[in-house]
Formats: sequence, structure tokens, C-alpha cells
Amino acid sequence: MDNINLTTKLGRLKLKNPVLVASGTFGYGEEYSQFLNLNELGGIVTKSVTLNPTAGNPPPRLAETPAGLLNCIGLENPGVDVFIKEKLPFLRKFNTRIIVNIAGGEKSDYIELTEVLNKKEGIDALEINVSCPNVKTGGYNLGINPKEVYSLTKSLKKITNLPLIVKLTPNVTDITETAKAAEDGGAEALSLINTLLGMAIDISTQKPKLSNITGGLSGPAIRPVAVRMVWQVAQKIKIPLIGMGGIMGSEDALEFVLAGASAIAIGTANFVDPKTPIKVIEGIKCYLKEKGINNFQDLIGKVKTE
Ligand SMILES: Cc1cc2nc3c(=O)[nH]c(=O)nc-3n(C[C@H](O)[C@H](O)[C@H](O)COP(=O)(O)O)c2cc1C
Repeated sequence: MDNINLTTKLGRLKLKNPVLVASGTFGYGEEYSQFLNLNELGGIVTKSVTLNPTAGNPPPRLAETPAGLLNCIGLENPGVDVFIKEKLPFLRKFNTRIIVNIAGGEKSDYIELTEVLNKKEGIDALEINVSCPNVKTGGYNLGINPKEVYSLTKSLKKITNLPLIVKLTPNVTDITETAKAAEDGGAEALSLINTLLGMAIDISTQKPKLSNITGGLSGPAIRPVAVRMVWQVAQKIKIPLIGMGGIMGSEDALEFVLAGASAIAIGTANFVDPKTPIKVIEGIKCYLKEKGINNFQDLIGKVKTE
């Protein structure tokens, strides 16, 4: 089993295995470090970090739906200064890739965040969250506009040598347009998908189940949509993809890989079983062994569509 090579590449970023944890579902690793060995992960993507501390939306911020989770956390985080002082030193202790996810209200916020994080040791890449369905104002949703995605990516590329991973929103008509825009702007890889905009109503109170009225849907309910989007994007662009959306186990992860993902991220499943990422790594290894494939990278995009 040990001759199986699980390494994968996201542009210049090399991962020891293709399993990451998705932004916002793993905090900054501290709580989860009690349940699993963080050194075993391909990488950790942090909760979105903003320039200033953000309280997020008031409760209720979570609602379960059939095979899914609706959330309107609203980018709650301690802000970039506290992140650097208190969270980054902990993350740096581990032998895994640290990908810092950043979010802003305006383009200038992303630029400032990138300038600040650029100077810090121990960051392997930046993931740019260009949309958050739970935050109402303008800039937070620039990810639906290909021109804005291109312009933001290009501006950030000019000021950093860190690999840029643009995280795409599924709340668009054609996700290949924003994917292409990010690639043209200089993204080294893409993450997809963020949550799908949704809504649930409590019929006894006749009120929305979330304080923000609408929220982002994640979990198994969105997986077929996410796999479809990864496959569509993989047909159109050359840079590597990180696939996510409802991965609960290795079989789900493998669907994304066959569709064209070079790495995958575990999100909502971390709330159900914090050991999911480790189980997915093992499951991918077993599958490769069964199929007689020695290198994980040989499986990427190998769905048989003809
Ligand atoms: C509670 C919660 C909080 C999230 N917070 C963020 C965030 O801060 N930034 C971000 O880019 N994505 C965030 N996401 C989106 C996830 O990273 C992921 O893209 C999405 O949930 C789909 O994967 P999943 O179905 O495996 O959870 C969040 C998702 C959940 C469920």
C-alpha cells in the first residue's frame, strides 16, 4: 500500500496528499487538533479572514435541511491582526500546507490583506473568497462578475508571489466564465464550490429559519451540482481545481477527482465526523490500490464520458 503516491500539485504548491479541509468548517485548526493529527492533512484552509474583526450575523445562523446545512455565519472572524498574532503561530507548527482564505467588502480590502499577509512566514497560498452569500453588501459578491474577478485576481497577482487560489461561487449562470476570468487574471488554482444560496421557513412561526433570511447551502444535497461544475470548469481551463461540496467520504471525493479535481476539500462533514479527512485519505489510497494505479495524479479527470 505504501508504494501509492498520493502527492498532488496546485500550480507551484505541492501537497503530500490531495485532502484539504474547507474554509469555515475547521476554524484555525485548534479545536480539531484534539480529534485528528493535523500533520496528516494535505493542507488546512483557514476560516475567511477580513481586515477588521467581524461579528457575523446574529443567531439563528444554522438550519439543517434534507441532506444539507444552511448557514448564515456571515464571515465571523477575529480580523487579520489577531489571526497573525494568535492563530498563525499555532497553524505553523504542523507539517501541512497552510492556505489562508481572505475576504473583503471592497477590492482595496483584499489588496491590503494580501500586503499584510505577504510579509508573514508560514503561509503557503492565499485562497480568495470572492463571494459570501451571507453578507449583503456589494464587494462581498464581486465573484458573480467575471470582469471583477479578473481585475481583482490581476491586482493581487501584481503584489504577491504567493500562489493565488480563487474560490468560485456556484450562484451564477455559467461558472466557466468566472473560472476563465480568474485563470486569465493569474490564479494558480481554483476552489469550487462555495455554498448555494438557499432559504428555509419554519411554518409554525412562519418565520425564516435563519436570522439573515437566506443562507448558504452545503452538504451532500449540493454534491451533484458541485461535481457537475468541477467537470464543466475542467473542460474549459488549464489550471488545477480543488473540488468541494458535500464530500462525506472517499467515494464522494473520488467523484470530484474523476471529474477533474487535483485536490478536494472536506467541509460540512467535519461537523459530523472530525476524522472524515483522514478516512478520505485512506479510502483514496485503497481505491488506487484496487485499481492498480500507483500515482494519484493519474486519476485526475479520468471520468469516461464516451
Ligand atoms: C458553517 C460554514 C461556514 C463557512 N465559512 C466559509 C468561509 O468563511 N469562507 C469560505 O470561503 N467558505 C466558507 N464556507 C464554504 C465551505 O468552505 C465550502 O465551500 C462549502 O460548504 C461546500 O462544501 P461542503 O458541502 O463540503 O461543506 C463555509 C461553509 C459552512 C458550512
